[in-house]
Formats: sequence, structure tokens, C-alpha cells
Amino acid sequence: MLNARKATRITPHVASPTAVPTTRIPVSSTSSAHFPTSRNPALLPRNFKKAPIEIDRQVGHWTRTTDGREIFDASGGAAVSNFGPGEIPRIKAAADQASARYGPYQCGLSYDTEPVQQLADALVRSTDGIMESVAFYGSGSDAVEAGFKLLLQYWQDVGQPERQIFVAREQSYHGTTLASLSLGSYWSRRDPFEDLLMDVHHVPACSPYRGKKEGQSDKDYVKHLQDQLRRKFEELGHGKVAGFVCEPIVGAALGCVPALPGYLKAMQEVCDDFDVPLMLDEIMCGWGRCGTLHAWQDEGVIPDVQLIGKGFAGGHEQISAMLIGRRRGIVDTIRDTSIIFNHGHTFQNPAKCCAAALETMKMVQEYLPNVRAMGELLMKRLKARLSAHVNVGDIRGKGLFVGIEFVQDELSKTAFDPQDAISAKIHEMGLTHAFQIHVYPGSGSANPHGKEGDHIILAPPFDINEDEVNLIVDRVGALVDHFFKEQNLAIQQS
Ligand SMILES: Cc1ncc(COP(=O)(O)O)c(C=O)c1O
Repeated sequence: MLNARKATRITPHVASPTAVPTTRIPVSSTSSAHFPTSRNPALLPRNFKKAPIEIDRQVGHWTRTTDGREIFDASGGAAVSNFGPGEIPRIKAAADQASARYGPYQCGLSYDTEPVQQLADALVRSTDGIMESVAFYGSGSDAVEAGFKLLLQYWQDVGQPERQIFVAREQSYHGTTLASLSLGSYWSRRDPFEDLLMDVHHVPACSPYRGKKEGQSDKDYVKHLQDQLRRKFEELGHGKVAGFVCEPIVGAALGCVPALPGYLKAMQEVCDDFDVPLMLDEIMCGWGRCGTLHAWQDEGVIPDVQLIGKGFAGGHEQISAMLIGRRRGIVDTIRDTSIIFNHGHTFQNPAKCCAAALETMKMVQEYLPNVRAMGELLMKRLKARLSAHVNVGDIRGKGLFVGIEFVQDELSKTAFDPQDAISAKIHEMGLTHAFQIHVYPGSGSANPHGKEGDHIILAPPFDINEDEVNLIVDRVGALVDHFFKEQNLAIQQS
């Protein structure tokens, strides 16, 4: 039964609209008024208190709204729109060509097409053959669900059906379907469904800003996390765990926290000792976002399952992928035992989406040097602009994937009350006429249950240039300054 009592409780407290123009960006409106409250009743909103803003048109990296705003996209939407006006026609042309030739839809039960095969080959090659087989789905959650079921079926086929428990990590998000929601520990999304979720165990994520003790070396912290995973596997019992799931760089739930060097290897060592497959969720952090095509390529680990989504086709098409590793013979096992991978969708392996993703792959590879260079610049300038701010606890990330965590004060690292919805309100204020910048909000980064902690994510397009990096830093800097001036004033006055 759904627990109605626990349904989402977003009660935004809006800072008083005092005009404190501390920056050269004029403050013409505040966060209270820019989300329309009326909405089209024919459309189910995600949030009944805030109807989304209507887009007039997208012009490059700018979103023009029907009420006259021009908002710079500093987060690729939800880390999806990875390319701007100069490059998008390439993806569109590839998709159109495939559609023209193969039709808008191909029944996956009966057919496949050249673009699908080419993309699968290119993906396998891009891993030097470490991954051997690929399937294409729609959303990231679809891909996670497929990985989850693939491992369950694999263990049945090798004669160990009692391996049904998954271990994942605290402060992670893996999707919105019931299995993927169970793997994640994003409290605000799990909460209404908690009683229905599957039995997934969570170990601490690698989160040095919060998790590393005073004076503890990175090496000791990684060892500590490794011991915790080992203890978890021992507690659950040999032969009981179906898979260990993690994001190499944690996105939405932690705010772009890269694993420390050696962490993923240490986790893989434990997985190997217990014969547990490693499933890497690269839906948000992979596919070039952090400076390498696959996030694990920097880490010296070999995934058994890898998931790609979000900007896989640059946001032009909706497509995700599940890649299966070669080393434990998962594909051979299923082929020789149950013959069928018992998991199919109507919309699977679509030619036009695969053609678009194949073109995107070439573009990502071309732009990797820019991702690394602009990522370094963004990090350097953002730190110079915001590190000293009393409410900025940490700025971290990799490539063009940067998170800013907010605190009540930087020394104590005390998080804000979740009821204050700080990151949601910063996101809202960013969209106002005063700032016109899209940042991606997240919460739950401050404690293992994911209830406290506020961060925003910057995940700009891969073809961003230095002027645009400066624009992001200026606007985000002004936004953070202004937001906390209002917020702190509201606290003093209350
Ligand atoms: C790491 C990760 N995994 C899975 C998902 C789920 O993807 P989707 O929203 O496309 O279902 C997300 C979405 O934010 C994600 O960040």
C-alpha cells in the first residue's frame, strides 16, 4: 500500500523581496513570482504548486520564454543538451536520414538495422572490447531496470538463483521505476513508495567533503569504505549478492562528487572476492561529461554492466544503453541457458535514435579536449569567485560536471533545514529576469539518509567557449550572493 501520509511535502519558504542589488545584474524580480501558479488542467504537472515556464523557442544555449526571458542553459537542462546550434544539425541530419530510410519505427522482435549494429560495434570498440554486447532503450531508468534484471537472470542461469540482493550506495540516484528507485537512496523521491521498494542494501558513498574524518588520508578513507563494503557482503552472506551498483561521479544526489583515486578499484577488489558483478551507472556522469568517453576509463576498473543515458544522443533523441562486460561471460551464459534475455520493450533499438547517438559519439570524441579545458577553467574561475562565500561549503566535480554545495556556514558545514528548500529556491531565482541562468538543483548531499544538504549542478554543453564560461561564473556568482543576502536578511528579520 502507498503511504499517503508520506507524500511529497514541498513547502517553499520564499525570501522577502528586498532589493539588494549587489551585482551588476539588475535585480528586477525575485524568486516568488516567476513560476506561474495557474496551469493547463489537461497537463499533469510534476509539482502542482509550480507550473513550468513556457518556452517560446530555443536559440543555441539560450532558452527564450513566452514572457520574454532569455535564460542561459548552464546545466544542459538535466545534463542532457550537450551541444549547441553549430552542432545539433549534425545529429538531426543523422536521425532524419535513418528515419527516411528505415521508417519511423522498426519492430524489435522482427528487425534490426544498420545504425543499430553500427552503434553497438562502435560502443564495444570504444571500450577496447572490455564490454562485449549492447542493448538500447529509452530512458536512463529503463537501462538501469534492464541491468538489474540482466544480473538476476544471469544468476538464475548459472544456477545461483539465491543471489537476489543488490548493494548500492547512500546518496545516489539511479532512476524512477521501482527497481531503479530501490537502488537509489534519494530520499525525497523514494519516500512515498518506501514500503513497496525492493530489498537493496546501501553502503556509504565516497564523499570526502562530508565523509572523510579530520586528519584522515584519502588512502585510509578509501580503505575504510572498502572495509565497509566487505563487511556488508559478509553480513549478507556469500552467494547472496547479485550486484554492486554505483555512479563513478555521483550526480543528482551528491552534486558532482568524483570518487577518490583508487576508490573504484578498491570496490572492485571486494566485488571480485565475493564474485559480485560491478554495475556502473554512467547515465549522468559518462559519455564525455567528465572528460573521457566512459567515466570508468580513468579509473582502471572493468565494469560488468555499464549504463549510458541522458545526452547519449545530445538530447536530440531519447535513448539509453546497457553495455555488458565480457569478462564473466554473462552473454554466453544467457545465450547457452535460457536463450532469451527476458526483458523487451516495444521501443527498443530504434534506428533513428541509434543513428543520432552514433553521430553524437563522434562529436563527443571531437569535443573531449574542450570538455577538459573548459571544465578546468570553469572550476578555477568558480572557485576564485565563490570559495570564500560563507554559504558555499564545497565546489567539486570533474570535466564539465561541477557541483556547489551550500551550508549555513563553511566552518561547521551545517546544512540548511530541508524545509527551507534552499537549492530549489536558488534554481527558481536563477530563472528570474534578474539572473536568467538555468542551474540544476539537488538535495540530500549532507547525510546518509539524503534528507539534508543543498547543491546545484552545472553541466554546460560540451561546445561551450571561454566567454560562456565567464558568463556562467558571473551569473552564478551574482545569483548566490544575492540569494544568500536575501535569505540571511529574512532569517535576521524573523
Ligand atoms: C545516475 C542516474 N541514473 C539514472 C537516472 C534515471 O534516468 P531517467 O531520468 O532518464 O530515467 C538518472 C537521472 O537523473 C541519473 O542521474
